[in-house]
Amino acid sequence: MSTVAPPVVRLEPERGVSPFAPPSAGIDPDPDRGWLRRLWPLVASRRLALIVAVVTGLSSLFITIGVPLVVRATIDRALDQRTAPLAPYVVTLLVMAGALFALRATYRYLLFTTAYGVETDLRDLVYSHLTRLSFSFYDRTPSGELISRANSDIRSVQVLLAFGPLAVLSTFTFLFALVVMASIDIGLTIVAVATMPLVYFVGVRMRERIFPLMWITQARMADVATVVDENINGTRVVKAFAAEGSQINKLAEAAQRLRWAAVATVDARARFSPIIEALPRLGVAGILLYGGWLVIEGDLTIGTIVAFNSYVIMISVPFRLLGFLLMQTQRAAASCARIYEILDTAPDIVDRPDATDLVDPEGALELRDVTFRYPASVGGDDARPTVLRGFSLSVAPGETMAIVGRTGSGKSTIIRLLPRFYDVDEGQVCIDGHDVRDLTLTSLRHHIGVVFDDPFLFSTSIRDNIAFARPSASDAEVESAARAAQAHGFIMELSHGYDTVIGERGYTLSGGQRQRIAIARTLLANPRVLVLDDATSAIDAQVEEEIHRALETLLVDRTTILIAHRLSTISLADRVALVEDGAVIAVGTHDELLTREPLYREVLASVESRDGAD
Ligand SMILES: Nc1ncnc2c1ncn2[C@@H]1O[C@H](COP(=O)(O)OP(=O)(O)OP(=O)(O)O)[C@@H](O)[C@H]1O
Ligand SMILES: [Mg+2]
Repeated sequence: MSTVAPPVVRLEPERGVSPFAPPSAGIDPDPDRGWLRRLWPLVASRRLALIVAVVTGLSSLFITIGVPLVVRATIDRALDQRTAPLAPYVVTLLVMAGALFALRATYRYLLFTTAYGVETDLRDLVYSHLTRLSFSFYDRTPSGELISRANSDIRSVQVLLAFGPLAVLSTFTFLFALVVMASIDIGLTIVAVATMPLVYFVGVRMRERIFPLMWITQARMADVATVVDENINGTRVVKAFAAEGSQINKLAEAAQRLRWAAVATVDARARFSPIIEALPRLGVAGILLYGGWLVIEGDLTIGTIVAFNSYVIMISVPFRLLGFLLMQTQRAAASCARIYEILDTAPDIVDRPDATDLVDPEGALELRDVTFRYPASVGGDDARPTVLRGFSLSVAPGETMAIVGRTGSGKSTIIRLLPRFYDVDEGQVCIDGHDVRDLTLTSLRHHIGVVFDDPFLFSTSIRDNIAFARPSASDAEVESAARAAQAHGFIMELSHGYDTVIGERGYTLSGGQRQRIAIARTLLANPRVLVLDDATSAIDAQVEEEIHRALETLLVDRTTILIAHRLSTISLADRVALVEDGAVIAVGTHDELLTREPLYREVLASVESRDGAD
C-alpha cells in the first residue's frame, strides 16, 4: 500500500510538521467583561510586537507631519526668497521618505502579523472548543451557523485588529497636524478645518443608515450559508424527491434577501461617500481663496499654502477612517459576542475532577432504573419528552445481548448513554460496577466501540478510515481487521485497493460496504465492549450473511449489545431484551420471548413484513 509521493510544494514550509499547539493565551473567561477586555489576553501575548508597532507608528506620524513643513521651507527659502540652497532640502525630504518607508513597513508588518496571529488563536480556540462540546450542542446548533461564525466572525475581529490601530494613528495625525497648522496661522486653520464637521456629520448620517443594513447583511449571509450547507449535505434527499426546483427557490429567496441588504448598503454608500470625499476639496478651495488673498496682501508665503493643502488632505483621512473604525468596531463587537457564545458554552459532558481511568474492564454493563430526556433547548423543560423511564438492564461480561423493540422505543438512545454521549437524568449507567460518570471520558470511550446505524466515513483512503482510532496501525493490522470484517474482498476490487479515496461520507460505497468498513474500524480499535446499531435498511441476503460472519468474529471475547431488527441478527445473541416505550419489558432467550411475549412476536412480524415489502 505505498502511496506515490505528491510533488513537494514549497509554499507551505510547515506542512505536515506542525502538530496542533494550543494558543499560549485564551480569552478572558469572565462573561461580564467587555468584549475587547476579554480579547485582550490574546493581544497581550504579542505585547512586544505591539509596543514596537506603536513606537514606529508614532515616529512615522511625526515625520508625516514634518514633510509639509520641509516642503514649505523649500518653496519659501530655496525657490521664492532664494536665501538657501535647494539641495539640502531635497536630501532632507529623501531621507524622510526613506525613514517613512522603513517605519511604515515595520508597523504595518507588525500590526498585521499580530492581527493574523490573534485570528489564528481565536480559530484554534473555537475549533478546539467545538471538539469538546457535547452532542446536545450539535443537536441544537445548525452547522451552517457554526461555519459562518468560525469564518466571517473571526475574520471581522481580525480586520478590526489590523486596521483599528491604523485608524487610531491617523486620528493622532489629525491632532498633531491641527496643532502645527494653528501655530502657523489660526485663520487659515479655521478655513481649512471648516468643512471637517460636515465630513463628520455626513459620516454619522451614513453610519446610521448603513449600520443596521450591515447587521442584516451579516445575518442573511448566515441564512444563505445554512441553506447552501443543508442542500449540499442533503443533496441526495433533494434529488430523490426531485425537489431541486423548490430548494433553488429557497436559496434564491435567501439570496434575494441578501442582495437587497447588500444593494441597500451600496446605495447608502453611493449617496454619502462622494459627499465625504468632495468636502475636503472644498477646504482646498477655501485655502486657495483666503490664503491666496493673504499671499497677495503679502501676509502669507506660498509655501504655507502648499503645506496647508497637504494638511487638509491629510486630516480628512482620519475623519473617514473614524467612520470605518466605529463601524468595524461595532461589527467586531457583534462578531465577538457570537464567538464568545460558543466559547462560553460549557460542555455538558466532562470528566469529574476525581474521575478515574477505566483499566482492563471485564465488560459487565448495567443500566439501573434509568430515566432520560434529551437536553433539547427549544421549548424549555416541558417540551422534553421522557425517552427512557425506569430502564434497567444488565449484561454479563462476554455476553451478547440483542435489543429489540419498535421504532422510536429508545433503542439507539440506550447506546448513546453507555459512552456518555449524554448523561442520564436519573438512575445510573455502570460498567464493571463503576458509574460511567466517575470514569474519564477518554478511557471509557476507548473501551466501548460503537458502530452506528449510519456510519460516517471520512473522505480519505480506506486505509485511513479503518485505522481511524489507531493511525499508527501497520498495514498488516489494517488488512487483518478488514479481513475479519469481510471487507478485504471488495476493497481489493476497488481501483486503488486500500489507497482508494472514498467520496465524502463514504457515499461512493454501498451501504453494506460502508458498514463493513465501520466494523473493521471498530475491530481495529479492539474495544472490550461493543455496541452495534444495526441499520434497518434492507441489505441483500449475501451481504447480510457476510456482515454476520464479520460480526461473529467481532463478538468473540467481548460484551456486545446488538440493536437488532432481523431474526438472523438476533440469532447471534445469547439473550434478547424487549424494549417498549423507553423501558425493558422482558429479557430472555429468543425462544423464551417468542413463546412468552406476544409483543415480541408482533415486533418481529412487523420487521419481517417490512423487509418482505422492500
Ligand atoms: N438527539 C435527539 N434529541 C431529541 N430527541 C431525540 C434525539 N434522538 C432521538 N430522540 C427521540 O427519542 C426517542 C427514541 O429515539 P431512538 O433513536 O432511541 O429510537 P430507536 O428505538 O432507536 O428507533 P429506531 O428503531 O427507529 O432506530 C424518539 O422519540 C426520538 O424522537
Ligand atoms: Mg435507532
